[in-house]
Amino acid sequence: MHIYIDSANIDDVQTAHELGLVDGVTTNPSLVSTTDRDYHDIVTELDELVDGPISVEVIATDYEEMLREAREYDTWGENIAVKLPMTRDGMKALRELSAEGVQTNITLIFSANQALIAAKNGATMVSPFIGRLDDIGHDGMDLIKDIREIYDTYGFETDVLAASIRHPKHVKEAAKAGADIATIPSNVADSMFDHPKTDEGLDAFLDDWGDRPSPALKDWSDETTADWTGGPPFFGVDASIFWAAVLTVNILTHPRF
Ligand code: E4P
Repeated sequence: MHIYIDSANIDDVQTAHELGLVDGVTTNPSLVSTTDRDYHDIVTELDELVDGPISVEVIATDYEEMLREAREYDTWGENIAVKLPMTRDGMKALRELSAEGVQTNITLIFSANQALIAAKNGATMVSPFIGRLDDIGHDGMDLIKDIREIYDTYGFETDVLAASIRHPKHVKEAAKAGADIATIPSNVADSMFDHPKTDEGLDAFLDDWGDRPSPALKDWSDETTADWTGGPPFFGVDASIFWAAVLTVNILTHPRF
């Protein structure tokens, strides 16, 4: 499963990138509004930093204007996916952009039928919003499973991108449900690393080791030959002990030796 970072903050994406967690990035108008930067500058920087799709969302709601925005966004980088809302105008724009070979991400998907329509119109990805479904008492993960089943049944190549992820359990469940991608806020991505037993175990190992230096940084070159008596240690036993044992056995088994 690919992991995208759901953010318009370059520092957050950079941090996750260094930890191997960025196969792509998703942005939206709300995320961009949390920065005081131009959408264009954010996207061009993300596109240079990340080796994967950068989703850029249209602001327009009518078909003609969406197309104009989408074609402009597509020039903002090497790997832009234009985000279109799941509306009738959005689907008309999607048909046209699919024919032009523009990557697309259909956002605000809340039902399997919406995902079916988007796939039939050639969407590159669909974004079911699992957290917002959970918020209103539905089970967002059921939607991921339904879309997965429909796409597999009919061989749609549209990727299922689990969006609106709120916590690490969503990530695990989306992976188990067969999502192709999960787009994750940076704080959730960061918390995926943590487990109290990992910290506890590491503390115990280090306490037991004490203040001895690292064995990897010690110069072993002398010690590997110093104690050999005609050869390397045998069967993990120091060579002098090994030869003493051979001599004893010989004396005992050959009294005149
Ligand atoms: C990503 O593409 C979506 O816009 C985002 O995941 C929505 O998340 P939210 O429901 O937390 O705003």
